[in-house]
Amino acid sequence: MQIPLASFGTFDQFRDAASTGAAAIDTLYFWILGICAFFFFLIVAVLVAFIARYYARPGHVEQHTPHHDNRLEALWSIIPSFIVVALFWYGVLFYLDLRTPPENAYEIQVVAKKWNWSFMYPNGVVDPNLHVPADRDVRLVMSSDDVLHSLYVPAFRVKMDVVPGRYSELWFNATTPTESFDPAIDPSTTGADENGYDLFCTEYCGQGHSAMIAKVVVHKSGTFETWLAEAARIDPTSSPAELGEKIWKQRGCSQCHSVDGKASTGPTWQGTYGTEQKTDKGTVKVDENYIRESILNPMAQIRDGFKGVMPSYQGQLKDAEIAAVIYYMKKLSAEADSVPATWED
Ligand code: CUA
Repeated sequence: MQIPLASFGTFDQFRDAASTGAAAIDTLYFWILGICAFFFFLIVAVLVAFIARYYARPGHVEQHTPHHDNRLEALWSIIPSFIVVALFWYGVLFYLDLRTPPENAYEIQVVAKKWNWSFMYPNGVVDPNLHVPADRDVRLVMSSDDVLHSLYVPAFRVKMDVVPGRYSELWFNATTPTESFDPAIDPSTTGADENGYDLFCTEYCGQGHSAMIAKVVVHKSGTFETWLAEAARIDPTSSPAELGEKIWKQRGCSQCHSVDGKASTGPTWQGTYGTEQKTDKGTVKVDENYIRESILNPMAQIRDGFKGVMPSYQGQLKDAEIAAVIYYMKKLSAEADSVPATWED
């Protein structure tokens, strides 16, 4: 939507607007800021002038103290009312526009969970980053697996809560492809580097909240379809362990499970397969059944030293994918056997 007001320009601390709606929101923002600043300085200036001129001096006699002025009072009531109504009107227009996705928008499903994002495309591709075509209306249909999250893309000026048990939606039309971003451009002004625009969770959702980030990759016209087709292609020559590694990277496992032996929110995957581990239910051998149960029903047995915060992947990973994860963990253990045992967490 275009707003028939001149723009105040952009300030350095504002990330460059990269969606069709962002310019209008910036314009309204700077108008509000400008009007507030104008009256602030006006009032302070008048205040200071009156203090300087009318302060109490010895011998000074007060001659005329007006108590009432109908014209003045009408003026300072009517002018602000008009300003407030005008700002409210533009606010409502933008809000309705923001809350009404255009028909035929390209739809992407978003699932938020502690602490990662999954973006699901119509052809079944799931990716931890948001890929969108440039110059096309995109609608996000979002839900949460656990607690309140909030999706925020500063460069697009859009933000929406993601709530468990219901769907919320958000739309935008990205104007500036990220493929051509020069790594030398300062990402603090564009909100993007060569990997894409920043996407944040802005609702405090627990220990890993600050790491619940992703990138928005805006593809040039035509290349989005290529990316989508490429992402959907399962390489027939790739081994199950390679598929497992891909799942680890793309489905959020990597947020909490390292593969280099270091414990983080969850136990590392390196060198764990085949070992015996203490849990709150006793000692368990980390075998296929234990790993499968840990993925589908993580609260069944919680490893000593960990908090038990993992969400269930029931219905989200197919059996073949769980098997691939197990293959990957086996491979990591085989590799760990050949190096000094540093995996103990
Ligand atoms: Cu999710 Cu903060």
